[in-house]
Amino acid sequence: MARKTTFRIRQMKKKGKKIVMLTAYDAPTAKILSEVGVDIILVGDSVGNSLLGYESTIPVTLDDIVHHCAAVARAKPKSLIVGDMPFMSYKVSVEQALENCALMLQKGGAEAVKIEGAGRVVDIVSAVVDSGIPVMGHIGLTPQSIYELGGYRVQGRTAETTNKLVDDALALQEAGAFSIVVELVPAETGKAITEAIDIPTIGIGAGSHCDGQVLVLWDMLGLFEDFKPKFLKKYADIASVIREAVQEYSDEVRNGVFPDEEHSFEMLEEESGRLYGRVNPKEK
Ligand code: KIV
Repeated sequence: MARKTTFRIRQMKKKGKKIVMLTAYDAPTAKILSEVGVDIILVGDSVGNSLLGYESTIPVTLDDIVHHCAAVARAKPKSLIVGDMPFMSYKVSVEQALENCALMLQKGGAEAVKIEGAGRVVDIVSAVVDSGIPVMGHIGLTPQSIYELGGYRVQGRTAETTNKLVDDALALQEAGAFSIVVELVPAETGKAITEAIDIPTIGIGAGSHCDGQVLVLWDMLGLFEDFKPKFLKKYADIASVIREAVQEYSDEVRNGVFPDEEHSFEMLEEESGRLYGRVNPKEK
């Protein structure tokens, strides 16, 4: 697979090719995603819920994302690496946004950043794009605004709110975003947004009409057995795989089955005859 760039991602919409995006937060999974040909790896602030044990993405810091993004970048994936700008790391001022987005590229190795929201965020997106940093927008349910939205609720359920989302998407396109994540909206709303703009939409819980799809890797692999939102399809049951492997290892350690000869080392042949049993060799 040739390296994915924001230019190629935009071309995919024009060519009618669906875009595949997944999250990753570490080098081994980034390597696998790249090998399979995933177009975009998002180092999402979902790392907060998925790996760091938080209940929302609010506590995730810029240092957290930069740390995980750098791990992904060290795998040298051919997929485009997008670093997610965490809560309040870009809203204080244009200067703050520019400095922090620059860090995501310089220290995190990201090739683009994702920024949640529209409204006054549009000017920030415009300034970041002007500085030469590609931006992926994010509208619909924006988890960093969870308290303002009143929970993880489906957005754009009325004509009025859908029209507002279409306006937001158009404004982000105008500001120079190269693509937009559309989260948790009805399929018709996802379609309306996708048809209104020239840049690709990447949906999560936004129906089949979006130009691409994204899921959180650990959710689609089935690490969290109790997390079952309607939009999530589980492609594996990794929690059971881990549980069975850990159980087998525990049993084998307790029964003295592991480690066996195959997994143990031997002394040099000429040395083994010179052992003194339990006597300290120094005492002879
Ligand atoms: O943080 C994340 O993983 C995201 C995706 C769910 C789009 O923002």
